[in-house]
Amino acid sequence: METKIFKVKSEKDKAVDEAARILRDGGIVAIPTETVYGLAGNALDEGVTDKIYTAKGRPSDNPLIVHISEISQWEPLVKEIPESALALADKYWPGPLTVILPKSEIVPDKVSGGLATVAVRMPSDKIARAIIEKAGVPLAAPSANTSGKPSPTSARYVTEDLMGKVDAIVDAGDCSVGVESTVISLCETPPRLLRPGGITAEMLTEVLGEITIDDAVFNKLADGEKAASPGMKYKHYSPDAQVVIVKGTFENYKSFIEENKTEKTVALCFDGEEKGLSVRCVTYGKKNDPSSQAKNIFDALRKVDELGADKVFARFPETDGVGLAVFNRLVRAAAFNIIEV
Ligand code: TXA
Ligand code: MG
Repeated sequence: METKIFKVKSEKDKAVDEAARILRDGGIVAIPTETVYGLAGNALDEGVTDKIYTAKGRPSDNPLIVHISEISQWEPLVKEIPESALALADKYWPGPLTVILPKSEIVPDKVSGGLATVAVRMPSDKIARAIIEKAGVPLAAPSANTSGKPSPTSARYVTEDLMGKVDAIVDAGDCSVGVESTVISLCETPPRLLRPGGITAEMLTEVLGEITIDDAVFNKLADGEKAASPGMKYKHYSPDAQVVIVKGTFENYKSFIEENKTEKTVALCFDGEEKGLSVRCVTYGKKNDPSSQAKNIFDALRKVDELGADKVFARFPETDGVGLAVFNRLVRAAAFNIIEV
């Protein structure tokens, strides 16, 4: 399949109309959002969602997030919108937050992966919203990577994974948040945080009061355990290299690397630390700045493979605020392999 590439600087560019036209005609298009690039298609057309699963190589029981550009598009997708959901939308939409509610009949089972619920989000990225608005339909959009690979935070990585497999790629530069949206389920009381992201647990608590954080955010699911969010059970965000998280002071991290390095070892460290290390380094943001780590983590995980690393020793991120999202992605990339030094 020929993949068109559109370079877009503003939501007013002609290419936005062109991308929306392809989506209206049943095509699939990779689009920028503030979190990561998404592979979008008409959420109400099962044939289109089939194409999305195929292009990504994604298991079909892993449901898709439906993207809207205004609140009025939410109502038809769900059974009802409770007060708590409206309060969240009021405070954090448009933005990196996905809300799960019981779905209505019009949402195809293929979008919900066979579940009775649907995940919906309104992105803050202006180009994303313009494309949704002009397409005139809600858009299902999983991250625009090959299933299992790190999510793409720039169009370069979308091209690497999906060239020839999608109708178009809209290139609008780097994503500002860098990790996928926070996913919260309002289908139970208290609400359950299924995936941490740019809207933090603390921010959700402010609006919702008590919430629970799903065990799968921190821990590996036991064999046969059912995932509240099906995406959690799959191997995720993995570079080809083996990643190990090394928890401890920088001095101890450095000694650990000296004792365990090979020629192909790469250190995944914080900005500036590369000066003190004897192996090749990829940095993933500033030490005490989880937002900068979120913005860089997926890019860094792709870069370690570009360097041909066999083993990657990663610094342990903070786990407060947005740091929880960074930790959640990194610990999956490391297949839960953490060493304390
Ligand atoms: O930031 C984002 O959310 C990006 C951009 C493109 O918007 N999209 C994204 O989609 O990350 P995806 O498909 O890669 O991740 C969606 C996650 C999966 O882990 C999936 O299992 C979960 O959300 N999910 C979707 N619908 C669900 C539902 N009804 N119940 C439970 N989990 C659901
Ligand atoms: Mg994904």
